[in-house]
Amino acid sequence: MSTKKIAVVGGGTMGSGISLTAATHGIEAVIIDINEDQLGRAKSYHEKQCARAVSKERMTQDESDKAIARLSYVSSMSEASGAEWAVEAATENVEIKKKIFTQMQENFGNEVVLATNTSSISITDLASAVPEAEHRVIGMHFFNPVPVMKLVEVIRGDNTSEETTAATVALSELMGKVPVLANDFAGFVSNRVLMPMINEAFHAWSDGVAEPKDIDSIMKLGCAFPMGPLRLADYIGLDVCRDIMMVMYKGLNQNEKYLPNEKLVALVEAGSLGDKSGQGVYNYDKG
Ligand code: 3HC
Repeated sequence: MSTKKIAVVGGGTMGSGISLTAATHGIEAVIIDINEDQLGRAKSYHEKQCARAVSKERMTQDESDKAIARLSYVSSMSEASGAEWAVEAATENVEIKKKIFTQMQENFGNEVVLATNTSSISITDLASAVPEAEHRVIGMHFFNPVPVMKLVEVIRGDNTSEETTAATVALSELMGKVPVLANDFAGFVSNRVLMPMINEAFHAWSDGVAEPKDIDSIMKLGCAFPMGPLRLADYIGLDVCRDIMMVMYKGLNQNEKYLPNEKLVALVEAGSLGDKSGQGVYNYDKG
């Protein structure tokens, strides 16, 4: 299989990373977002990353120009005709995602795979928004920063076809990623394991076991993590961490071990969301 053009719905962090990775691997990517500012930010991110790759001699100027030429930015799905693949990378909200799935099905025809970059929501549930296309719906979970992280967690819903799964594995490989299959349980594998660890780091902080920087140093130096769990929580977004914990709490028999820590919830409610708001566990105002 060799996909030539994909549509990426959502120009935020994940959508920008997915589209850049596609473009640097020879695939055209149309980024669709109703928010013009978001499209502008996606474009600057692409230009900056390509310029950096050239300056670091990871790409030639010609390769960078070609990658940039493969990227386009539009505000409606109707402007992304000819896409052979669609991946939704919008807000982590079931109702919004279901609405997008209905629109993707209406706009992209009956052959296109409809993938979602959800981090925890049931693929079978999302697929129920497009009953006629359930066999073409699949989870394609990328990791941030997408151009750097090697994994794509591939999640099949109850009705995902073998053909859709095989095509998703092939596209992930074409994008230079390593696809690994997981079943459709809340949080899949990655967040089922990662988020309770992050939540536990908040419990350790709340209990006074150590201050955040020391919790992070211990986990970085002692367990060889590139970032400590609290720094990583800020990087991912504290609201995202809280929401994923809640999806797992609701989706895994309301087991209390998945309830988000109170300090984490309080920070989110105070608007301290991590890197994106300039304040989370740490303060980023001064870089
Ligand atoms: N886009 C593209 N490239 C990026 C990037 C970005 N946003 N951020 C960093 N990079 C590249 C840099 O350009 C650099 O490459 P280069 O030296 O060849 O130019 C390389 O990554 C290393 O970056 P830095 O030197 O700036 O910094 P670090 O060495 O500290 O690495 C990091 C930064 C890659 C983010 C590293 O700290 C890391 O791997 N952190 C853990 C990230 C992680 O766990 N991600 C998964 C989150 S969970 C998730 O996404 C799932 C969701 O469902 C919650």
